[in-house]
Amino acid sequence: MSSSPIVLQPTLTLPEPIIAADTPDFRDKFNHSPFMFSHNLVGHPLFEIPRLVELANTLFPKGQIFSFGSGNSPGLKWGQIPNRKPIVEVLSHIGESDSCVMFKSAHIDPEYKALLDKTLIELEDITSVPLHREMTWSIATIIVSSPHVITPYHIDHDCNFLFQIHGEKDVHLFDQNDRSVLTEEEIERFYLGHISSANYREENQNKASVNHLVPGKGIHHPVLAPHWVRNKDSYSVSLSINFCLRTCDLQARIYQVNHYLRQLGMLPTPPGKSALRDKTKIIAVEMFSKRKPENHDEVVRSGIKRITAPVKLLQQVVRSLKR
Ligand SMILES: [Fe+2]
Repeated sequence: MSSSPIVLQPTLTLPEPIIAADTPDFRDKFNHSPFMFSHNLVGHPLFEIPRLVELANTLFPKGQIFSFGSGNSPGLKWGQIPNRKPIVEVLSHIGESDSCVMFKSAHIDPEYKALLDKTLIELEDITSVPLHREMTWSIATIIVSSPHVITPYHIDHDCNFLFQIHGEKDVHLFDQNDRSVLTEEEIERFYLGHISSANYREENQNKASVNHLVPGKGIHHPVLAPHWVRNKDSYSVSLSINFCLRTCDLQARIYQVNHYLRQLGMLPTPPGKSALRDKTKIIAVEMFSKRKPENHDEVVRSGIKRITAPVKLLQQVVRSLKR
């Protein structure tokens, strides 16, 4: 688990509280359905552009920051969007660079780590969920993007609390349980590592809730809820507090086994329909999962990768012999 004991930096002043717990939705809807909330991070120095440039310089050597151009459609795949470099140049002119800069693992910097830790403490309290016991990974990501940028349609394994700090955007969110929107096969492929496996279908757009975020507002969306985002007329700064939950990690193991059962021509039982089948699949993958994962991918996929590695190696050998 990435969350070490909570130690706040004495030099940094964070809002008290960060999240305005003014809705029962935190308790009633957590990880089941989306809800909006209010927060107090607007105007905080951690989100001003010069401080973000400093953070970019910290993250760049560690490979924890990415920049890419704007997609013009929610249906684009990540691989279809061009990279943008150099990042600091893009960031300094974010108002007109038609780009998005994603600060993955902003919490490598101790001040952002303090922010992550305090937010998680507050969330544990207001959701009444023992998050620090249930979490297997946590991360603070900052997304800075130009006016009108579209973040394409996708799904995430993480539970997400998105805080809007500058600019406005529309978050289009779909029901993670609606199989006419998100199919079992798409989820199974996602958990094998195909991060763009969820396909945007224009005919489903009317099933989305469109959530307008302004500075001071945020939105929570559950694990696997498909979403895409469009910025409005100003550049946007958002903070995403993400974390993996143990129960969702175990569900991922079921989808991974189901992917291979489907490849064998079977019709696998989705999670939640048979306790015995779920347990068998979980045990099979769990035996091979890393006890102390060192990154997000290892939390989700180390077990299935270890199981399938010999088969993949064999396939490579066969391919090379055919040449
Ligand atoms: Fe996302």
